[in-house]
Amino acid sequence: MRVRTLVNPFSCVKRYPKPVWPELFPAFCGIIDVEIGCGTGSFLRNYAAAHPAHAVVGFEIRKKLVDAAQAKIAEQKLENAFLLWGNGHTGLEDMFDNNSIDRLFIFHPDPWIKRHHLRRRIINAPFLDLVHQKLKPDGCMYIATDVPDLWAAMHESIVSSQKFTHITDDPFWTTLYHTRWKEMSIEQKRSLFYGTFQK
Ligand SMILES: C[S@@+](CC[C@H](N)C(=O)[O-])C[C@H]1O[C@@H](n2cnc3c(N)ncnc32)[C@H](O)[C@@H]1O
Repeated sequence: MRVRTLVNPFSCVKRYPKPVWPELFPAFCGIIDVEIGCGTGSFLRNYAAAHPAHAVVGFEIRKKLVDAAQAKIAEQKLENAFLLWGNGHTGLEDMFDNNSIDRLFIFHPDPWIKRHHLRRRIINAPFLDLVHQKLKPDGCMYIATDVPDLWAAMHESIVSSQKFTHITDDPFWTTLYHTRWKEMSIEQKRSLFYGTFQK
């Protein structure tokens, strides 16, 4: 049984400059996809390899995981994958113009069960306002978890925000959704909960 090692996202106070994507990689086609909480970075790397003209940007708060994933990105020569250390909430605030992100992925976010830790959860009302601001007009947020109570809380926050439409038949979930935590959840016979929420 894997135990979740949690790092407080507020422990990192790093801020980020705004990138000029075509200067960073000339193949950029205008599409920006972001993942928060990349873990080992396996989804980010596979997704970036399959979408070489998209800017694929990831944030991860655990420095050791970032260092290891960045080494793999360099090894694979993925010019469009940018994995950054830090809090994804801050990264969204700093790095992206309003109405500029096509897809935001959050797979198996840390559940932070204790009442006095609830504010460390990534999905909350101010975060949903920020996501709504940063997504393009038809942009989508993709969320998955293996924790039933967390799914219920996230779903309720999203519905209460009245900012997103729940798409129930998105083929993404049967084709591109592959993460380490998804594999472990299946091995350990935990149920998966996921959904696509369009702006
Ligand atoms: C349970 S793991 C899931 C990893 C990966 N998404 C997967 O599905 O295999 C959650 C990850 O999110 C990271 N994380 C949690 N809050 C974060 C935040 N605010 N910003 C960036 N990373 C965060 C954690 O450090 C952890 O690596």
